[in-house]
Amino acid sequence: MDLKEYLSNVENLVDKTLFRFLGDAPGDLNKASAHLLLAGGKRLRPALVMLAAGAIDKKAPDRIFPAALALEMTHTFTLVHDDIMDKDSLRRGVPTVHTIWDEATAILAGDVLYARAFDLICKATAEPAAQVRAVSMLANACAEICQGQSDDMSFEKRDDVSRGEYLEMVRKKTGALYAAAAGIGAILAGASPPQAEALYNLGMTTGIGFQIQDDLIDLLSSRDGSGKDRASDLRAGKQTLIAIVAREKGIDLAPYRKDLTDDEIDAIITELQDAGVIDEVKKIAHDLVVNAKKGLSVIPESEEKRLINEMVDFFVTRGF
Ligand code: IPE
Ligand code: IPE
Ligand code: MG
Ligand code: MG
Ligand code: MG
Repeated sequence: MDLKEYLSNVENLVDKTLFRFLGDAPGDLNKASAHLLLAGGKRLRPALVMLAAGAIDKKAPDRIFPAALALEMTHTFTLVHDDIMDKDSLRRGVPTVHTIWDEATAILAGDVLYARAFDLICKATAEPAAQVRAVSMLANACAEICQGQSDDMSFEKRDDVSRGEYLEMVRKKTGALYAAAAGIGAILAGASPPQAEALYNLGMTTGIGFQIQDDLIDLLSSRDGSGKDRASDLRAGKQTLIAIVAREKGIDLAPYRKDLTDDEIDAIITELQDAGVIDEVKKIAHDLVVNAKKGLSVIPESEEKRLINEMVDFFVTRGF
């Protein structure tokens, strides 16, 4: 099976199951919680849970599927709250929760998803000790995401954020959940400690690559392409790797911290491309993934391992 087919199977399974659970939940808060969850999304974190589990024990993915759903619930909770923080109006091609309802409802809707994630992960069938480790890993990832999101926002007030500080911030806000996805899949499937650690580390490092690619997509992709607001990071004055590398090359993106027209965004892209910023940022993401894959030597060769390797390549090649 190729990666595209595998991901589309997981997407269908996740979509179908979520709809069955939440499709007709009554009341405003339930509707607000279900809104983004049922709006699609690439479902990459549940796919990584399933692949990591399958790389350890071919039969594990079926019995640990609730944990895959738990990762998607957690991810969607972070998106609902992130859109409030980033003041974004479009997500997964639909209006964001706080723009349809209001901020208070969006905070509560996110909280409901966050709580349900922990209920779901407990429904995976695994050894009790593995279950406890998995729940703890998810809880720790959530706390790290909050710290990363806090750093992301406080960096907006600075113009001297270093590459190292950026990498540490995205390790927390995005790497931590991919690490948990791979780590939880592995642990619930019965991985040995070195195997679980290798998959956890792979998720962490390639998750950083994933976020760098997301920053590129924010700038380079159309609203129709990404399903999200265009150039939201520029408007907010985010200290992305693009902004940091641009600054190193003498380009200050601070003046673009406002609502921008498509023509203005296109002009900035041309300036950044001509200065080599885009290529340099792409290379950093690419190199992270190449190095991360080397850590998987403790995982035996299998179809699932091949798909994991393909998937993390896709993290940094996915389209604009
Ligand atoms: C967006 O994640 C948030 C980031 C961590 C960059 P995805 O790009 O995986 O979003 P969906 O789930 O496909 O909508
Ligand atoms: C946020 O990063 C990652 C999360 C932890 C939600 P972004 O703010 O760049 O994510 P998008 O671009 O809105 O999806
Ligand atoms: Mg954000
Ligand atoms: Mg955002
Ligand atoms: Mg983004």
